[in-house]
Amino acid sequence: MIALGCDHAGLELKTAVMAHLDARGIEYKDYGTYTPESADYAIYAEKAARAVVSGECALGLLFCGTGVGISMAANKVRGIRAACCSDAFSAEMTRRHNDANILCLGGRVVTPEKAIELVDLFLDTPFSGEERHARRIAQITALEERF
Ligand code: RB5
Repeated sequence: MIALGCDHAGLELKTAVMAHLDARGIEYKDYGTYTPESADYAIYAEKAARAVVSGECALGLLFCGTGVGISMAANKVRGIRAACCSDAFSAEMTRRHNDANILCLGGRVVTPEKAIELVDLFLDTPFSGEERHARRIAQITALEERF
């Protein structure tokens, strides 16, 4: 199960990605927003992030205008590693090296075609599990404990 969330500026891109997930037969839960009226991205980041940390959803996809604000909000949730990406290499490597659990995309930055490419890479790439990457992720987690 994949958690989805967006603000008004990410709604169109989220809708395009939902159609792609439907075509791939990938199940998702959409935590809103559902309409084009102006919406505050932190609200939807929190809803989707909670679903990921609770284990209800394995991964999340979040959308706002740039992908940046919604990633900042999601990263405030303990246990979330949200990556804002607009290129294929980063979308793949953030799974392989960072074990990112949320991908954030900008509706005003990437086309629907690029977003679908990045989503596929993100969903289909496993964490490498290599010791050095696990160690670095543990250091990120330790930062959460210290602040
Ligand atoms: C909304 O206009 C816009 O600021 C928001 O979607 C996002 O891009 C913020 O990072």
